[in-house]
Amino acid sequence: MKTILLEQIKEYLKESDMVASLANISSCIMLNYKNLNWSGFYLVKNKELILGPFQGKPACTHISFEKGVCGKTYREKKAQRVDDVLAIQDHIACDADSRSELCVPILVNEECVAEIDLDSFLPNNFTEEQEKEMIQAAQYISEAWIKYHWPN
Ligand code: SME
Repeated sequence: MKTILLEQIKEYLKESDMVASLANISSCIMLNYKNLNWSGFYLVKNKELILGPFQGKPACTHISFEKGVCGKTYREKKAQRVDDVLAIQDHIACDADSRSELCVPILVNEECVAEIDLDSFLPNNFTEEQEKEMIQAAQYISEAWIKYHWPN
């Protein structure tokens, strides 16, 4: 898959500092995808998920691997596309406006090291195409992760 957004993400990954690079990627996704109220990263640290660079309202800073869509993404190492967050019990509402969510793991040597998390204020906002695009973005981030020895 080759899209303008993926090409832009590849450009931002030329920056070797993790926070700088992920901050620009979160902004880039926020500007490219429609109807988002939150776009950002959670980073695996000390056996939990910690808030990383993002765009949107302030969000939960620590998420357990056992909780929420983000926790499920970590446990299953698989993208979660949730059409209606109100219909599932296991959703952490950082922002009461959120109605649908796309969460994609960033895998390095088959370990989940971080996640891309996107929220929309509309139900059913995320398409299968966008899920594939974010899985490809996660792959590019994984390659940068290894190349630059992130998270250092
Ligand atoms: N909704 C997520 C929590 C993170 S916020 O959406 C930014 C979850 O259920 O894990």
